[in-house]
Amino acid sequence: MNIRRAKIEDLPGMQACNLRNLPENYSMKYYLYHCATWPSISYVAEDKGRIVGYILAKMEEETAEAEQPHGHVTSISVLRSYRRLGIAKKLMLLSQESMASHRASHVALHVRKSNRAALSLYRDTLGFEVHDIEQKYYADGEDAYAMRLTLKHD
Ligand code: ACO
Repeated sequence: MNIRRAKIEDLPGMQACNLRNLPENYSMKYYLYHCATWPSISYVAEDKGRIVGYILAKMEEETAEAEQPHGHVTSISVLRSYRRLGIAKKLMLLSQESMASHRASHVALHVRKSNRAALSLYRDTLGFEVHDIEQKYYADGEDAYAMRLTLKHD
């Protein structure tokens, strides 16, 4: 298992992993936008040349005056047979470290209210807190928790 920064060549493997794991899917252009604009923030887990997990993330730099630049996790997933091995935790921590080096004040993400595994990862393992509830955020009408984690700067 190799966990490393995502490269442009990884994007089709990341998209394939996303399609298997989540109903929220993105165009190749959107993957490219993330990796070309913030090449150090997205990571992959690779096993024997196959992408088995990824975190697709970006910086939000042009924010309202009162808001600090911050990181945003667009999507994270791990193939079913590779779960509960600590891969998602590792991907999140690497991305968070890189966001902090870009002077991000916090990390933000959205998660379905019903997604117990991801909620446990964010809240219990990583220390995220619910910042807001966004009604009918998802295409099927489910609400999202908008979660945040304040980043520490050395
Ligand atoms: N049930 C309860 N807690 C869980 C579960 C679960 N099924 N999975 C992970 N956790 C929690 C546990 O606290 C776990 O620590 P432990 O194993 O020591 O108990 C901790 O999270 C770390 O788990 P990892 O092994 O790092 O997580 P994993 O690699 O299995 O990936 C993920 C977790 C990404 C949520 C995976 O289940 C997945 O791909 N799910 C489908 C896609 C998805 O829901 N992605 C998130 C959508 S929101 C977004 O993308 C911003």
